[in-house]
Amino acid sequence: MKALEGVKILDMTHVQSGPTCTQLLAWFGADVIKVERPGVGDVTRQQLRDIPDVDSLYFTMLNANKRSITLNTKTEKGKAIFTKLIESCDVMVENFAPGALDRMGFSWQRIQEINPRMIYASIKGFGPGAYEECKVYENVAQCTGGSASTTGFDDGPPIVTGAQIGDSGTGLHAALGIVTALFHREKTGRGQRVECAMQDGVLNLCRVKLRDQQRLAHGPLKEYPQYPNGTFSDEVPRAGHASGGGQPGHVLQCAPGGPNDYIYVIIQPPGWAPLMQIIGREDLMDDPEWSTPEARLPKLESCFHLIEGWTVTKTKFEAMEILNAHNVPCGPVLSMKELAEEQSLRATGTVVEVDHPKRGKYLTVGNPIKLSDSPSDVRRSPLLGEHTEEILKEVVGFSDEEVAEARDEGAV
Ligand code: COA
Repeated sequence: MKALEGVKILDMTHVQSGPTCTQLLAWFGADVIKVERPGVGDVTRQQLRDIPDVDSLYFTMLNANKRSITLNTKTEKGKAIFTKLIESCDVMVENFAPGALDRMGFSWQRIQEINPRMIYASIKGFGPGAYEECKVYENVAQCTGGSASTTGFDDGPPIVTGAQIGDSGTGLHAALGIVTALFHREKTGRGQRVECAMQDGVLNLCRVKLRDQQRLAHGPLKEYPQYPNGTFSDEVPRAGHASGGGQPGHVLQCAPGGPNDYIYVIIQPPGWAPLMQIIGREDLMDDPEWSTPEARLPKLESCFHLIEGWTVTKTKFEAMEILNAHNVPCGPVLSMKELAEEQSLRATGTVVEVDHPKRGKYLTVGNPIKLSDSPSDVRRSPLLGEHTEEILKEVVGFSDEEVAEARDEGAV
């Protein structure tokens, strides 16, 4: 049995943040009913298309294992069907612009009246405050949540990351909130509201930088590349490739010098001696000017420069093998091409090939969370309205005539 089998999710999500959340719940076995506007659907079906008239990879990679019903929730019949769906589902998730659900006539109060057991999860750009009415996309959240100001190099502008920490990161937070509320409902019988703001989600992922903001009051951040020769202001600076943790690390170039021929190397205290042995600088293994973390702090750049003199003579995979054999924490910079071809990720189901009736085979990222008793299988995303009739009959309880009527009225 799948962990969330029997849980019905009314999925009013679109774009990325919400769909990430409901896809996770679907992988765990929840029945996710994605509600989409007739004839239009989730806007990402048409965004960044690689094949004409075929659902984009953007959509297919965020909506696996779901069913799709088309429903115009702004018509009278559509509202009646939507009310029935709220009655029969356990969880509702939405990430519309602020107020959209209220404008449809489904405020949190109304939803509770219809189904007091309902767990109602919303993702918005901001929590209550000056910006609560604003629409937000991924990079806006990266900027407002502290990621951009702390990413990049000291002499350059703030940088946004490729990892979708605003969208997918907040989707993950929301999924945890929903599962927690389901657990709570087991004991109390009551549903509750789950609210996740993208700014909060990004800040949660940037908490080490808020840590550093407070450390600044007590002196320079010695593990940052600005130390000892640069200057610190009263704001956390961009740290380049420096590690956010207690152990210094850096990205170092490898052979043959291509854009992704790099390895990230961390110097743990016990790693110094083996590293010096590997690079042929046994003289620095026990030299008090180099051998302790304190001695190395003011000259981390030189430390990594020394190690890079060796890494440039190896490929990133050769360097990985040699360093790992000596217990030195490190990792190659992998391109998306390399990740797509990585057989170990295929073997664990983290990268999965899925067959789609219109696009054929495509790769997607499967469930990165592995449960021993509830493995996830990845099923292709639904076509627009593929399950409309099935859901109207099975969940709403409509007859053939009522389905036809809803279609004639343009509600579905
Ligand atoms: N039937 C009828 N109307 C529907 C519908 C349906 N099944 N599904 C959606 N709609 C309507 C909504 O009610 C809304 O109408 P309204 O403006 O009259 O209230 C409209 O479609 C569009 O919704 P909206 O969310 O405003 O879309 P948008 O494209 O203008 O904005 C975002 C997109 C992502 C910026 C915005 O939704 C947002 O800020 N979401 C919260 C934060 C978020 O998740 N951002 C990350 C996205 S990856």
